[in-house]
Amino acid sequence: MKIEMKGIRKSFGSNDVLKNVSFTLQGGEICALLGENGAGKSTLMNILGGVLPMDSGAIYIDGKPAEFSTPGQSQAAGIAFIHQELNLINDLPIYENMFLGRELKTKRGSLDLERMFSETEKIFKEMNVNLDPRMHVRDLDASYKQIVEICRAMMTKASIIIMDEPTTSLTDQEIERVFAMMKMLKERNVGIIFISHKLNEVIQICNRYVVLRDGNLVSEGEVKDVTTNDLARYMVGFDVRTEPLLREKKLGPEVLRVDGLTSKHAFRDVHFSVRAGEIVGVTGLLGDGRSELFQSIFGAYEVTSGKMFLNGKEVVIKSTNQAIKEGIAYLPRNRKENAIIKDMNIIENASIATWPRFSKRGKINEKKHREIFAEQRQALRLKMGELTDSITSLSGGNQQKVVLAKWLAANPKVLILDNPTQGVDVGAKEDIYDIILKLADENIAIIVLSSEAPEIIRVCDRALVMYHGVIQGEVAGATMNEHDIMNLATGGEST
Ligand SMILES: Nc1ncnc2c1ncn2[C@@H]1O[C@H](COP(=O)(O)OP(=O)(O)OP(=O)(O)O)[C@@H](O)[C@H]1O
Ligand SMILES: [Mg+2]
Repeated sequence: MKIEMKGIRKSFGSNDVLKNVSFTLQGGEICALLGENGAGKSTLMNILGGVLPMDSGAIYIDGKPAEFSTPGQSQAAGIAFIHQELNLINDLPIYENMFLGRELKTKRGSLDLERMFSETEKIFKEMNVNLDPRMHVRDLDASYKQIVEICRAMMTKASIIIMDEPTTSLTDQEIERVFAMMKMLKERNVGIIFISHKLNEVIQICNRYVVLRDGNLVSEGEVKDVTTNDLARYMVGFDVRTEPLLREKKLGPEVLRVDGLTSKHAFRDVHFSVRAGEIVGVTGLLGDGRSELFQSIFGAYEVTSGKMFLNGKEVVIKSTNQAIKEGIAYLPRNRKENAIIKDMNIIENASIATWPRFSKRGKINEKKHREIFAEQRQALRLKMGELTDSITSLSGGNQQKVVLAKWLAANPKVLILDNPTQGVDVGAKEDIYDIILKLADENIAIIVLSSEAPEIIRVCDRALVMYHGVIQGEVAGATMNEHDIMNLATGGEST
């Protein structure tokens, strides 16, 4: 199948997102769709997926004009769409989610649960996915949710699959699994549009790329002819720096220490400490327990034993409110579920962590919030409309920046960032790294949880590597490298 999008234009109010974009995709191709946060990637794909109407332009399938005014029409034409923000219903089991909107029915017209179950089992087997289709989606880790979505797309026997940042919440092992699926599909002549900010992935899996900037398609070609640095430059319009960021610095006293922290299901006997001005990374593979560990330090996950100290004094954190009062901030992973409140606007989302601090007799000091946010907005180079626009009107990466702004406004002593650059473009990543380094200079103790070894190596002074709930080892300083990290993350010993 061949898809052609010609002269596509799309504006939201005065924001001309797509000015005149033409894009082609053939079956058997994996094409990267690249561009900065807010460049219009999801918008272009939403048009192809029948989610959004275009203002002008045309779509052709195998040379014939096509009109997609609903997602159903696009699906019927053989296009499957894995959205940037996942579309699963937590309260239903996996096998029912697999058939949302195209439920199988029995002859009598009731839901054919048995067949939906067995079909799901079949596709999981084919895709080498080890999951019980009866599990409720709410009990799945985000990465498994992503995998369920991918399997669902596979199941529709689509000729074209749009993957909008499918790997942001996956660990390396799962990414490999998704890539294996993609290669298999490519061989079956399925065309894939792959959106990602991880340019090394693009080089690894795609054969073609297109880059959007300022509403236009500014560059396209064969992946074999370019490097990640080239792609980064096409995206932002200038060379993105690659030099090391870390420098010698004087660390302050110990701010946070945990001794023997244990939680029945997630982690055990964890010991570590972080000093003022220090940036400590924590990494590992799926099931390493790092998010649960730091959620418990933030009062959001149960601890069964162990002690925690802040500035040398023992504390028992029972709630997130108490954690915030003690000066701990935690930016959670999985923005859609844990970090943004969809029904609130941008400024509300950005200030909610500081409402108690800047309120008097139950009245929120809006002016104060706006002042604080103005600074973050500039430092993070947020691309947005009005402060009172809905958070969901922002592109994925810009939503992430708002969430970061919220925790920066809380003025913490200990800042825990769980996957802070999720869905953030190459240029903006550097902005966020600069902010992390600046905060460390201001003597904040910073913990960065990340699955991306290059990120850990780039910003952290040292890193703890976890394996099945235990700190397996530590890497530090200029000799940190991906190989040692991976070795520890898979249960190897320190060298
Ligand atoms: N429903 C909407 N209402 C208003 N503006 C919108 C809406 N959807 C998208 N936009 C705007 O369109 C622009 C492009 O957004 P889009 O989501 O396509 O970006 P993107 O390239 O996918 O970015 P990211 O990498 O951050 O996901 C942004 O400026 C965004 O704020
Ligand atoms: Mg997007």
